[in-house]
Amino acid sequence: MNQDELKRLVGEAALDHVQPDSIIGVGTGSTVNCFIEALINSKIPIEAAVSSSEATTLLLQTGGIQVVDLNQTGGLDIYIDGADEFDSHRRLIKGGGGALTREKIVAAASRTFVCIADQSKQVGVLGAFPLPVEVIPLARSLVARKMVALGGQPEWREGFITDNGNWILDIHNLDLVDPVKMEKAINNLPGVVTNGLFALRPADLVLVAHKDGIKKV
Ligand code: 5RP
Repeated sequence: MNQDELKRLVGEAALDHVQPDSIIGVGTGSTVNCFIEALINSKIPIEAAVSSSEATTLLLQTGGIQVVDLNQTGGLDIYIDGADEFDSHRRLIKGGGGALTREKIVAAASRTFVCIADQSKQVGVLGAFPLPVEVIPLARSLVARKMVALGGQPEWREGFITDNGNWILDIHNLDLVDPVKMEKAINNLPGVVTNGLFALRPADLVLVAHKDGIKKV
C-alpha cells in the first residue's frame, strides 16, 4: 500500500466516529480530504460541519454538506483532522497546510479530537517536521529573532498568506522534548497568532493507517 492508499484507509476509518445528524468539526489537508470524500460517499446524514479552512469549506459545500460558523454551534462533539507529526502521547505538529490557527480553535471547541494519519507521521520526539508559526505580518522579523533565541532556525513561507491574512514562519531544529513548555513560550511572543504544536490540547485518539490495517494510539 502506498501513502495515498493509507490516507484513504484512515479517512474511511474515521467514519466510525461520525454520529448521524450531528454537527462535526473538519480539519484540513490531504488525509482529511480522503475523509470528506468517504463521508460524502457514505451518505451518513450530517446536520452540518464546522470547517477549519477555506479549502475544506469548498470541498464540503461541493459535496452538499452545509458549513456553519462555530459561533452559531457552540461546542462540538467531534473534530476530525490530520497531522504532520504525532507522538505516543498524541501530541501533534500541525500546520503544514497553513490552517493551524482555525484548526486549533475548532479542536479547542470539541469534546473529542480524532486525529487521522498514516504511519509515516509517527515520531518518538516531535520536531523533525519544521514547526509552523502564524504571525501578524508586521511582527515577522521580530518573531523570527525571538525564535532564534529559543533555539530554532526560522524560514519565512514566502508568498503564502493564511486564511486569516497572516504569514507563516516554519521553525527548523527546535528542541521539542517539552512540547507543552514550547507551545506556551511561542504563543507568548507578541505578534504570534498561534503555533502548530498541539500539546496543551492533544488529540484524544489517533487512528494510524498501517499496511496491515488501522491501529489506535
Ligand atoms: C494543515 C494541517 C494538516 O493536518 C497537516 O498538514 C497534514 O496534512 P496531510 O494530511 O496533507 O499530510 O495541519 O494545516
